[in-house]
Order: sequence, then structure tokens, then C-alpha cells
Amino acid sequence: MRKPIIAGNWKLNKTISQAVDLVTELQALVADVSEVEIVVAPVFTALSAVAAALKENRIGLSAQDLYWEKSGAFTGEVSAELLRDAGCSYVIIGHSERRQYFGENNEMVNKKVRSALDAHLAPIICVGEHLAERQAGKTESVIEDHVMGAIEGLSANQLLTSVIAYEPVWAIGTGQVATPDQAQEVHAHIRRLLAGKYSKEVANQIQIQYGGSVKPANATDLLSQVDVDGALVGGASLEAESFAGIIAAARRN
Ligand code: PGA
Repeated sequence: MRKPIIAGNWKLNKTISQAVDLVTELQALVADVSEVEIVVAPVFTALSAVAAALKENRIGLSAQDLYWEKSGAFTGEVSAELLRDAGCSYVIIGHSERRQYFGENNEMVNKKVRSALDAHLAPIICVGEHLAERQAGKTESVIEDHVMGAIEGLSANQLLTSVIAYEPVWAIGTGQVATPDQAQEVHAHIRRLLAGKYSKEVANQIQIQYGGSVKPANATDLLSQVDVDGALVGGASLEAESFAGIIAAARRN
């Protein structure tokens, strides 16, 4: 059985003290939750402070990006080792905002995924089609391109340390959530691709999250789909109560 994983992507929000307040409030709300893997992803500058505020390992810490080199003359970048040093055990990689605004492509995503795994960070690998691609009937081929590009060269064990987040770009921050059927269809497609490359057994073990306008009100229906193992949450993760509401929905499934 796959454990549900609910991750909060805080994006470019929250000062250090706001981030600490949010995680402190959240911890109180999820104090008795052990059957859901909970992750929060603050901005780089708040990582250490949030790590210090996290107690009992009930919530995992994630960064929102990394650079694949370990160290050196790469002004402005942060490596996987430094993220571990700051207390992270996860890192979001290949988010559509990174692909869209910062020119990330599959090759860069793959290098980032490998460097995360080398440093024992679990990559949360984001894939997803644009609206025009969906309308042109290209969803499956775009997803195949993103997934296969990101995991190129990974062993089965490395894949199983990773999480895949299906995030249709048209659903991110728009309030236009995918229907449970649309999410299920793509998640099943991803699992089929992984079964083909590795094995059915491996494909059945990896956690695949849905992301894009997940709220407490729609989480139950999405999470009840057989191949939806959790959520990557943006807007609704910025308030402890709404994020805890999504965690509660994952618990009920
Ligand atoms: P959203 O963002 O929940 O605000 O749509 C999701 C994401 O970008 O990870």
C-alpha cells in the first residue's frame, strides 16, 4: 500500500517568522497524524528556521529547487548537500513555474533529480501539460516526455525514493481543478509508463501526487482515485487550517 503524501509548496511567500508561525500552527493541527506523509516547502531563506521549529519528524522539509553542482563558482545557486545541511529531506524539481519562467528543460530536470538522489534527498518531480497541449490531444505524449526525461538513468531503487507530481499547468493557481477522472487518467498513464520501463511491481509502489488548485473541498474526490496518492498544494498550503483540511481528507481515504 502506498502512503498518501501531502506537500505544501509555499512558492515565493512568507518571511522567516511567518514561515515558523505557519509550521508551528500546522504541527498542532496534525499532531496525531501518522498515516499521511506531510511535507512543507518554504523559500530557501526560511529553511533552517523551519527545520528548527519542526518537532518529532511528523512533517518533512522540502526545498523548491536546487542546482546540480555540489559547489564552486555558481553565483546564486544552492546544492543538494546544502539543502540537506539546512534540514531538508525533499526537494521539488521541475515545477512548471521553473520550466516556464526560468527555462528549465528535461535535461536540467534530470540532472537536478540525480543530484538530489546522490545527496539522499527525495525529489518531488513535477510534470504536466499546458492547456493548448491538452486541447490538441497531446497530454499523454507531453507527460511521457516529462516523466521519461526526468527519470533517465535512474535505478528502480532511485525511482522509488522519488515522488512524481502530476500538475496540469492550466490547473495551477487558477481555481480550475482537474476532475478526479482527468487526474486518474493521467496518473494511470504515468504508472503504465513506469511499468513499461521498470516493472509493474515498481510502478505500483511509487507515490504519484496530483497538484493544481487542490482545496479541502475537492481533495476527497481527487484522493479517492486509485492512482492518486496525494497532493502538491500551493495556495491552500499557505494557511494551516486549509492545508490540515487536505491532510484530513487524505487520512479518510
Ligand atoms: P495551487 O499550486 O495549489 O496554488 O494551484 C499548486 C502548485 O503549483 O504546486
